[in-house]
Amino acid sequence: MGNMQQQTTDQWNANLYDIKHSFVSSYGNFLIDLLAPKSGEKILDLGCGTGDLTKKLNELGAEVIGVDKSTNMVSAAMKKYPEIPFRVADATDLPFKDEFDAVFSNATLHWVQEPKKALESIYASLREKGRFVAEFGGKGNVQTIAQEMIDQLQHAGLGYEKEKNPWYYPSIAEYSTLMEEVGFRVTFAQHIDRPTPLEGEDGLRNWMDMFGNAFFQGITEEQKKFIQARVEENLRSKLYQDGKWVADYIRIRVIGVKE
Ligand code: BEZ
Repeated sequence: MGNMQQQTTDQWNANLYDIKHSFVSSYGNFLIDLLAPKSGEKILDLGCGTGDLTKKLNELGAEVIGVDKSTNMVSAAMKKYPEIPFRVADATDLPFKDEFDAVFSNATLHWVQEPKKALESIYASLREKGRFVAEFGGKGNVQTIAQEMIDQLQHAGLGYEKEKNPWYYPSIAEYSTLMEEVGFRVTFAQHIDRPTPLEGEDGLRNWMDMFGNAFFQGITEEQKKFIQARVEENLRSKLYQDGKWVADYIRIRVIGVKE
């Protein structure tokens, strides 16, 4: 669900997220299986977005709270699921202590540029023996798309500074080391290709609008449209297959136990 963006202004468009990117929560079903929530367990959904997976956890009998850094996302989630508690919170500064049986996080932690701080905050939120179950972008995630956006910005003389890249995509060696450093026992770690079909002819463009906007900060709307068109043109032979855009997602999945 990817919703803990680092910018200070709220860049998240909850509508575009729900209408064109519902695949984000569909893929989250695998992570729910990995979490295997038991009825009555107290679970934190970290980076809940518009709340679809929070709702599923609730239906499975968990006592769940959804948090997200984006006020837009939290407002949309509250409207959709008024029976579930949602609140705005930052992954690196969670307002909980020894409370949860599990912290669940889908497609969020690649937005958090202080991963160790987030892990410390997650660890503190869990009860002893509580588990942290997460999936997010791993090393190499959307590299083809990101590199093409950078190349096109540079080619057009619009510049690209590394600081614009909003993502953190660790390897499992790097991330499980951080998990161990904060006290987790890592019981599961996976780094997998997960090619992800995007919806419709404008799939890549919508994806860039939803997730890649940080790359286009400081340029005009017209310049952005131009760059996006060039990106589409150049990536068509690589990422447009059988009438569909397919993004080169690579994920990591981890489970850690608080010891
Ligand atoms: C996401 O938040 O779902 C996401 C962000 C960047 C690349 C891929 C996915």
